[in-house]
Amino acid sequence: SVTVHDKTFELFISDEQIQSKIAELGQRLSADFASKKPLLIGVLNGSFMFASDLMKSINIDAEITFIKVSSYSGMQSQGKTKELIGLNEAIEGREVVVVEDIVDTGITMEGIVNELNKMGAASVEVASLLVKPDCLQRDVTVKYTGFEIPEKFVVGYGLDYDGLGRNLKDIYQLKQE
Ligand code: PRP
Ligand code: MN
Ligand code: MG
Repeated sequence: SVTVHDKTFELFISDEQIQSKIAELGQRLSADFASKKPLLIGVLNGSFMFASDLMKSINIDAEITFIKVSSYSGMQSQGKTKELIGLNEAIEGREVVVVEDIVDTGITMEGIVNELNKMGAASVEVASLLVKPDCLQRDVTVKYTGFEIPEKFVVGYGLDYDGLGRNLKDIYQLKQE
């Protein structure tokens, strides 16, 4: 187990499990987007590690860029989506894949997908390493899901608890007190 700030976390999804799932997702994306030159859009900060490994697992022409949208402070989702920051690419007519570490309430992803559709994307799909189906409050379709997980708080592999824990290679789950 690991301690992040004041909390204890237990191993939940290993580095090996993560990497083998990403290899599968990369194969699916490569097949589905062959010759379409998709634009992957990683959502900072949490997705940086997944986006990097996912990009390496794709064997077709693809571009990648990153945007910033922040909605968490501590362990509670705040329920407010902010605007897309830092998106300089032309979206009109592009096949876009939004890359997230986790879809929790879906509020962040709904806002991003709506915005990209407004910008005229030819298609917008979502790749998220983790999805919490029990927490979803929005009608968000995650076509490329790594793992469906229960409601418990998780850290590691890009996911943070108040800024820390992103560097862990594995994903850890909050230990019940
Ligand atoms: C987390 C996570 C997603 C979002 C999901 O980001 O990385 O982007 O929250 O939550 P939702 O589905 O309830 O909207 P966070 O706001 O913590 O910022 P970070 O990526 O910089 O950690
Ligand atoms: Mn995030
Ligand atoms: Mg966070």
